[in-house]
Amino acid sequence: MTSWTEQPVGVVGAGTIGVSVAHALARSGVPVVIHDVVPDARARVRSGMADLERLATLRRGKGASADVSVTADLADLARTSLVVENVVEDPAVKVEVHTALGQVLPESTVVAVNTSAVPITTLGTALGDPRQAVGVHFMNPVALIDTVEVVSTPFTGEESLRTVKSLLRHMGKRPVVVEDRAGFVINRSLMLFVNEAIATLDDGVADARKVDQLFRGCLGHRSGPLQTADLIGLDTVRDTLLVLREHHGDKFTPAPLLDRLVAEGRLGRKSGSGFYDYSRTGGSHA
Ligand SMILES: NC(=O)c1ccc[n+]([C@@H]2O[C@H](COP(=O)([O-])OP(=O)(O)OC[C@H]3O[C@@H](n4cnc5c(N)ncnc54)[C@H](O)[C@@H]3O)[C@@H](O)[C@H]2O)c1
Repeated sequence: MTSWTEQPVGVVGAGTIGVSVAHALARSGVPVVIHDVVPDARARVRSGMADLERLATLRRGKGASADVSVTADLADLARTSLVVENVVEDPAVKVEVHTALGQVLPESTVVAVNTSAVPITTLGTALGDPRQAVGVHFMNPVALIDTVEVVSTPFTGEESLRTVKSLLRHMGKRPVVVEDRAGFVINRSLMLFVNEAIATLDDGVADARKVDQLFRGCLGHRSGPLQTADLIGLDTVRDTLLVLREHHGDKFTPAPLLDRLVAEGRLGRKSGSGFYDYSRTGGSHA
């Protein structure tokens, strides 16, 4: 059985969720090698992890620490025990990345695919050996959400699934294993109601604050749908809807307001504004 604190885990993609995964791993004492092709993304890894650690310390106290190295070279992940892939929610880019991973990783390396909706089987095929691919859909902030949606395809090897579950348990997570259909369980429903909340806002039924207030206050949700969309990233929400539409039909067509915000570069928390403004107050109306 792998000793998770000895050999590093690889993280591909240092965006919103990749940095959050790297932080949660390091906080569990697991060393990390994180790769991104974009220099700015690599440059933001340490400040992003420090922000996440401040929040995690506030809620849960101090965690463990572990070595984190940042690399521009995918081949550096050849020495890792397992790789978590978190690149943009674009099936073509993900296929390219998994093809490249198949060429640099030793045959035995398990690849945990962190995607909102892309079927894991497609990516396992690109990897070359679909036995090595397991879907692991983390929620942001990873260190603070203890249940993880895990996707096992008809081709996922038993040993690969066991390895992923062992890492998740080491991180204090509860894995819930589901089947491989686009969007799995969570996003097939979540994206539908996030998209409809955006359309409701655009129709002028209520402003963003009231929409979110109703979901929190009446339904007991921890975060309203528009706050959730801002946290995920509006570009990622839109890309996820496009993947879902390809597999499940037109009901997943992105709301026109979502298209407009993404075109304007208002991507939510990561760009400083979305449905709310994060530039000064951390979340007033945009
Ligand atoms: N944001 C969330 O809350 C969340 C939660 C669970 C899963 N996901 C999934 O995780 C993935 C990443 O989402 P995100 O929100 O972090 O997106 P993001 O846009 O914030 O980050 C994506 C990162 O991938 C990098 N990238 C693009 N092409 C690459 C390549 N060829 N090689 C290496 N890096 C590359 C980008 O430079 C960027 O830093 C998506 O598949 C998304 O659906 C996101």
